[in-house]
Amino acid sequence: MNPEKPDRNLAMELVRVTEAAAMAASRWQGRGDKESGDQAAVDAMRAVLDTVPFDGTVIIGEGEKDEAPMLYNGERVGTGNSPAVDIAVDPVEGTRLLAEGRPGSLAVMAGAPAGTMFDPGPCVYMEKLVVGPAAVGAIDLDRPIDENLAAVAKASGRSLADITVVMLDRERHEEAKRRVREAGCRLQLITDGDVAAGLVAAWVDRPQIDVLYGIGGTPEGVITACAVKALEGEMLGRLWPRSDAERQAAIDGGYDLDSVLTQDDLVTADDCFISCTGITTSQLLRGVSFDVRGATTESLVMRAKSGTVRTIRARHKLEKLRGYAAVPY
Ligand code: FBP
Repeated sequence: MNPEKPDRNLAMELVRVTEAAAMAASRWQGRGDKESGDQAAVDAMRAVLDTVPFDGTVIIGEGEKDEAPMLYNGERVGTGNSPAVDIAVDPVEGTRLLAEGRPGSLAVMAGAPAGTMFDPGPCVYMEKLVVGPAAVGAIDLDRPIDENLAAVAKASGRSLADITVVMLDRERHEEAKRRVREAGCRLQLITDGDVAAGLVAAWVDRPQIDVLYGIGGTPEGVITACAVKALEGEMLGRLWPRSDAERQAAIDGGYDLDSVLTQDDLVTADDCFISCTGITTSQLLRGVSFDVRGATTESLVMRAKSGTVRTIRARHKLEKLRGYAAVPY
């Protein structure tokens, strides 16, 4: 036996960051303005991140420095004290959901020891397949989705009719949709937000979804991988260039477009963590609500090293916060 003293779970501090981003963004719910909602979340996230004692480098951020003045790729965040951490931020995952007041938007960030997070570079999209613990080892991205669903049903001792698949509603998924329907599974189509959907697929405490399949953002895929590691599910992914130009940029950048990436390729360290706070309500989390006492948030905080998953409901006294906080709640 080699007992270790309990060490720091940075995600416990980062929950303040995603709470702040969610509260700020939630003021823009349904106002039809994607940019302002995102900007409010970025400003809040950046302001609170500065108070967290760590030496963070944004690996997955709001874009390159010339197009994103804050939380750009490569930006240093935190107080600069150790530990050195790679950070992925998505201040509003599901900007359109928020702007249209639809369910499923989140403020999310993930972290892992420096040098252990996959940098997607020019690779915007990836094919993703996510399942929970019962189907670990049963999935194979080289096989069609219907064969994977049969394997998931068998591994989890259920019938195909009991399996629910979630997929982004995109034209590129027509063939996969047809196969899911012909397999006899239940299908849930979402307009956006495959991080929340992937977490529900991987988490045994949320039985509404069993499988996430489809092509979505690569940055979102890396964030999902951190959670899948904590939830002990499985994620497989493959980079998916949209055009010859994207294909060439990826090849020039040294990316292998044929290989199947697992959650352990997307985040090689086991000490990774994720914090997310609901902005609008979803199957994963309740969204921000306001009452006479202030705001209430619901967040999930997970750490793969310990396997601890915390749900944190917080009440925020906005009157008090307005007295000193850097974020204009
Ligand atoms: P944004 O919050 O950046 O708008 O992303 C939302 C999202 O739906 C992701 O969840 C998903 O991975 C990606 O967009 C899919 O991209 P596209 O809308 O181009 O198909």
